Amino acid sequence: MWKSIQGAPPDSILGLTEAFKNDPNPAKVNLGVGVYKTDDGATPVLNCVKDAERVLLGTEASKSYLPISGDPLYSSCVQKLLFGADSDVISSARAATAHAPGGTGALRIGAELLKTFHSDSHVWVSNPTWANHNGIFTAAGFQLKSYPYYNPATKGLNFDEMLDCLKEIPSGDIVLFHACCHNPSGVDLYADQWQSVAEIAQQRGFIPFLDFAYQGFGSGVEEDRIAVETFADAGIDFFIASSFSKNFGLYNERTGAITVVSPSAAESAVAMSHLKKTIRVCYSNPPAHGGLVAKTILSEPSLEKAWRGELKEMCDRIVAMRTAFVDGLKSRGIDQDFSYIKAQRGMFSFSGLDDQTVNWLREHKSIYVVGGGRINVAGLTSQNIDYVCDAVAESLNR
Ligand code: LMR
Repeated sequence: MWKSIQGAPPDSILGLTEAFKNDPNPAKVNLGVGVYKTDDGATPVLNCVKDAERVLLGTEASKSYLPISGDPLYSSCVQKLLFGADSDVISSARAATAHAPGGTGALRIGAELLKTFHSDSHVWVSNPTWANHNGIFTAAGFQLKSYPYYNPATKGLNFDEMLDCLKEIPSGDIVLFHACCHNPSGVDLYADQWQSVAEIAQQRGFIPFLDFAYQGFGSGVEEDRIAVETFADAGIDFFIASSFSKNFGLYNERTGAITVVSPSAAESAVAMSHLKKTIRVCYSNPPAHGGLVAKTILSEPSLEKAWRGELKEMCDRIVAMRTAFVDGLKSRGIDQDFSYIKAQRGMFSFSGLDDQTVNWLREHKSIYVVGGGRINVAGLTSQNIDYVCDAVAESLNR
């Protein structure tokens, strides 16, 4: 079957991890995939997760199937985190949430569901966006278009051009937004800018789809809800793909959720019926463990408090490494101003390094950076920061 078929290229992000693992250089540094590391370079299980697992070990009574949409208590915990416990979205039952295998699974289920009813629509993604967005929506059968987002000259948001483009998007098209910690740029919208976007969505009738993979890594768990809250207040239909991979460190448990918000409870019930129909033919029902862990933490105040503390520790270390990186480059006499890296939010730094430099760093220094110059700041540690800064300085002074 495969004799005349060419191999597929490696994934632009996860493929780097494979190459990194095979690299024999002891000095190698993986700044590719968005996975948190401690200053020792480890990605440990959070203490609150270990505590929740200890509880589960004693109480879990069955491995029978979960409902198609997952455990209702998990969905309720997800909704409280997404909207806030007092949100009118929850009290008016306007949201349908299904447990999905990670943020990617949530995006794909949302895409499949949308394809059923909007087969001729385009999906609009920010320029640039997470590489897998293109893959997921294309695989679901959509044609993609992009709207202006990042301005490489100012290292900031291209807001006016973005709005001009959104104003032309037809009703029924789908527009993908990063709710916070834009991947790869780390550049987010302010509250009033989200308000303008929501007003345009309302006027034009396009369907916003929020990718919310980094709640808590921007300004805080509550503060990072701003996009979700703004679209919810607009009373329009929209989708949210959320994930516990990063903020709970549950990467390999594939723990996320797809949430469809509607103007009324009756519409939400219809949305849920179609979510279930879509999930049933994709993977039948979700894997349980990660959802059990997240639910256990979020429904037990002492565990939730511990989680918030650990999340803050992760964020504080990332912020400290941003400063160390910028200062490290400056102290090596590099002319280029990298201070914008300190203002970027989330796990990534859109470093401004071009693909030639990215390739040179990999080839000569075994430093792995995603094409386009995205660096996982959480991969920098006090042990590798000097090596990385020396290498970047050398590559820029070539
Ligand atoms: C990333 O952007 O590095 C993460 O979201 C991991 C992934 O699946 O690409």
